[in-house]
Amino acid sequence: MKPGTVCGLDIGTTKTCAVVAVEGPGGLEVVGVGEAPSLGMRKGVVVDLDQTIKSIEAATEQAERMAGLNVQDVYVGITGDHIRSTNNRAVVATANDSREVSSTDVRRVVDASKLINLPADRQIIHALPRFFTVDGQDGVEDPVGMAGGRLEVDTHIITGGATFITNVLKCVHRAGLEAAGVVFEPLASSASTLLPEERQVGVVLLDIGGGTTDLAVYSLGSAIYTATVPIGGSILTSDISLGLKTSRDEAEGIKRRYGAGVRDGVNEESFPVHTLDGRTTKEVSTAELRAIVVPRVLETLRMARQKIVENVPRDLVLGEVVLTGGGSLLPGIDAIAEDVFGLPVRTGIPKNVSGLTETVAQPQYATAIGLLLFGANGGGELIEDSRRTGSIWSRVRKFASDLWN
Ligand SMILES: Nc1ncnc2c1ncn2[C@@H]1O[C@H](COP(=O)(O)OP(=O)(O)OP(=O)(O)O)[C@@H](O)[C@H]1O
Ligand SMILES: [Mg+2]
Repeated sequence: MKPGTVCGLDIGTTKTCAVVAVEGPGGLEVVGVGEAPSLGMRKGVVVDLDQTIKSIEAATEQAERMAGLNVQDVYVGITGDHIRSTNNRAVVATANDSREVSSTDVRRVVDASKLINLPADRQIIHALPRFFTVDGQDGVEDPVGMAGGRLEVDTHIITGGATFITNVLKCVHRAGLEAAGVVFEPLASSASTLLPEERQVGVVLLDIGGGTTDLAVYSLGSAIYTATVPIGGSILTSDISLGLKTSRDEAEGIKRRYGAGVRDGVNEESFPVHTLDGRTTKEVSTAELRAIVVPRVLETLRMARQKIVENVPRDLVLGEVVLTGGGSLLPGIDAIAEDVFGLPVRTGIPKNVSGLTETVAQPQYATAIGLLLFGANGGGELIEDSRRTGSIWSRVRKFASDLWN
């Protein structure tokens, strides 16, 4: 694999997507994109190894062909109901005589924060520093170089079921690739769609995919809560198909065209729907469609809200909700989300990369683009990795070793 090449592999429930980028003077430039339907995934987890391997092979081969590059190491997205998150805190004494915090101290304290009581069937995917405390002074973002004898860290720890992670990695491996790192998907989507100011003020990211709705809450610049709701756009298509007694394909088209919305300047309209045998059509109004769509969208968003309410301190300020993933394209979803969360809502389009922007600047690529950014930035787990080290490869290696420890 050519030095400076990064590949993100998003094995979603609906589609598997590989994105290849090269590090250029202006940052990451996307040079290849490949996509294949995911037939072996359900609700974010592998249910059919062979089908999943085929999807990975098809997506990466397409991306490689477009890029004219071979890919070996990939950053892989992970999600599913098995993911849990918790916050932890650890403390170490700084190791050198000058009583100055070094990057080794930072690594040691973050590693110490990973010592949590974990059942044998779970593993840590991320230990994300929220802030450091140096000799009692809290809220420190980057303690390296500061004077102090006692270094503390507050981390957000994300764990996953070992079998679920192993199955994803098995597929990646059997498709002839190496996993350079795994990233919990909403963190990847956040990396590509959220602005630093939004993370600072407080924001909820919702990645509404086909099988899952992943969420990440940021405050004061870092992730404080992450979770997964096992419902996505696919069940909405089933609801429409059952409710209107039409094929899934037709239901999918109706969902994308009308969704839960009323088009600008149009009050109610009606549209023809084929019956299951495809021979006759009947007229359905957008009001009838909304009666099917809105309850399911409400259910999904309320579940996400409930998780946040139960797990995030009450006094936390949140300024906005950012919707991404293919489900965020549902007509009318913004208004429903504004209602549920009582916050302004915007759609998150992946940014911070150049090249092929017309192809990848769509919410369903937020995870894949975010995986690239994670890969190029050493995972963002240890702040000194992303800010201080030289070549992208040294950073990638650090990230990888940190993950597999
Ligand atoms: N224009 C649209 N309107 C409504 N829904 C849409 C639209 N475009 C895509 N979707 C829905 O988005 C979902 C797929 O989104 P996405 O590609 O982000 O999922 P995924 O990453 O494969 O799945 P997951 O993240 O759950 O594993 C599908 O349910 C699809 O129907
Ligand atoms: Mg997804």
